[in-house]
Amino acid sequence: MTGYPAWDQDSARSIIAGLVHLEGAALPILHALQEEFGHVDAQVVPLLADALNLSRAEVHGTISFYHDFRTSPPPRRVIKLCRAEACQALGCEALVHDLAHRGIAVDGHGHAHGHTHGPDCGHDHSHAADIAVETVYCLGNCALGPSALIDGELIGRLDSDRLAELCTDAGVRS
Ligand code: FES
Repeated sequence: MTGYPAWDQDSARSIIAGLVHLEGAALPILHALQEEFGHVDAQVVPLLADALNLSRAEVHGTISFYHDFRTSPPPRRVIKLCRAEACQALGCEALVHDLAHRGIAVDGHGHAHGHTHGPDCGHDHSHAADIAVETVYCLGNCALGPSALIDGELIGRLDSDRLAELCTDAGVRS
C-alpha cells in the first residue's frame, strides 16, 4: 500500500523553512511536500505565500501549472493491469469486468471508489475504496499473465480471488 502521513501544517512549515533559502524555492518546496505527504494540500498556500513573499494567487498558479503536483492524497493502492495481447489471451478482460462489478473503472479519473452509492445513501463510507487501476501494455511477464504491478510489485497469474483480496485490503466492498 502507498502510505503517507496525514497532512500536518507544522511539518509543512519546517519543510518550507528548510528550503526557503534556495533560489527559486517554490518548486523544490512543493516537491518536498509532495514527497512527504503524497500530495500538496491547499492549506500550504498561505504558508508558502508568506514564506516566499508571493500572493496566494501566484502560489495557486504554480501548483496548478505543474501537473505533477497532486492536490489530494493519492489512492492507497495502485494496480497497473496489463491488457496487452498475451494477458488478454489469459483472461485480463475478465478481471476488468470484475473490477467494473465493484464500481471500479479502469483508467477512471481520480480515485476509484468501491461502490456507487451517493453520500446520502446511509451506508458507512469510512471504508470507501481507495484504489486506482490503470491499463499498461506488457510488463514482460507474458507467460505468467494476467500480470499486474500492484503498488510497484509484479504479480503474475492474477485471478478474481486475488483481485478481490486486493480490493478488500484497499477498502472496497462488493
Ligand atoms: S502481455 Fe501482459 S505481461 Fe506481456
